Amino acid sequence: MKKFLAVLSTLVMLGSLASCGDNSSSSDNNSSNNDTKTTTAAKKDDAEANNDGDSNSGGKKTVGIAMPTKSLERWNRDGEYLKEQFEAAGYDVELKYSDNKTEQQNNDIQSMIADKVDLLLIAAIDGETLSQTLADAKAVDIPVIAYDRLIMNTDAVSYYVSFDNYTVGKLQGEFVRDTLKLDSEAGPFNIEFTAGDPADNNAGFFFNGAYDVLKDYISKGVLKVPSGKTTFEQVATPTWSTDKAFENMQNTLASYYSDGTKLDVALCSNDSTALGVAKAIDSDYSGGNAPLVTGQDGDIANLQNIVDGKQSMTVYKNVSDEAGVTLDVAKAILSGQTPDASLSLSAEAKYDTESYNNGVKVVPSYLLVPYVITKDSLDKLVDTGLYKWDSNNKYLESTASTT
Ligand code: BGC
Repeated sequence: MKKFLAVLSTLVMLGSLASCGDNSSSSDNNSSNNDTKTTTAAKKDDAEANNDGDSNSGGKKTVGIAMPTKSLERWNRDGEYLKEQFEAAGYDVELKYSDNKTEQQNNDIQSMIADKVDLLLIAAIDGETLSQTLADAKAVDIPVIAYDRLIMNTDAVSYYVSFDNYTVGKLQGEFVRDTLKLDSEAGPFNIEFTAGDPADNNAGFFFNGAYDVLKDYISKGVLKVPSGKTTFEQVATPTWSTDKAFENMQNTLASYYSDGTKLDVALCSNDSTALGVAKAIDSDYSGGNAPLVTGQDGDIANLQNIVDGKQSMTVYKNVSDEAGVTLDVAKAILSGQTPDASLSLSAEAKYDTESYNNGVKVVPSYLLVPYVITKDSLDKLVDTGLYKWDSNNKYLESTASTT
């Protein structure tokens, strides 16, 4: 079944990636195309299982999916995997991308509430701005799952499905520690940090996970931060923008490294920022060495940089599995159960009722397991079925990017 889903995702993603270059707000707001239905025996069985008459659209339940933007690679993958897997399980899907604009996301969710969806899955653009909209969802009994990013200051969110976000950062910090042998080498090594979007609750977890591994080495002087920028606020990157990360790194290099100071590490929280940072190192750093650059996600351009030695690692998060666990939780909710630690899941995930307090309540969470990918372990990605080697056996491409 898993293999089947991967292949199916491939076909569905073709359409999405084809529209990826079109960055107009209308392409970032394409509602689901319910014509793209698949017909297989497996799907039919699932579909019949969910076709229980208790819904608003001819017997099928409808799931509303709100994704932040098409301009960052991973959300295209998430949206398509979710749509594909929910449809294969017999649900109708309404999928909207909101162009990284918070007002648009509120409007998009309001329109799904008006459409009487049976459940909402939301990857928030800004976790702080959805309280009123979600109160409206709660008033009409629509359950909400926060997808990947926690939604803050609301009691209307029932569950959170994500990866262990602190561990993502921790893996990046440990990679730096182990690669530079910080426990035995005297250094000093120079490091600069690039973190994520302050509006995204995940961004602090990533930064803290990495910083907590490295802070003792900073206080011992084995690691030095020539820019002095060691707080999340100082190194955050609004909207996780590649261009902004590029600009920030250019400024850092001009101000602190133009005298020949060596940069050993650029600790970047994710791949979109790592892309900008690697580009700045390429164009504006003259130190001669290739600094370690960390990332997260496994975006295609970054996997290429890993092959080319411009990025050292990425923390991989299998978002097809994330979609699968979300489906497990949603199915349980929609059939009247209260998911907990005993829920049977399609991928490994930890049930956590402590870590994610959104200011109003601790949101019960299912946290999937991230892992490190380096140049030497790219084949692990091929094993997922979601990537393959290109015709020259040099770079990885998505299994969706060619027929
Ligand atoms: C996700 C990361 C992603 C970032 C930017 C975060 O919320 O967890 O995987 O790199 O957003 O899209």
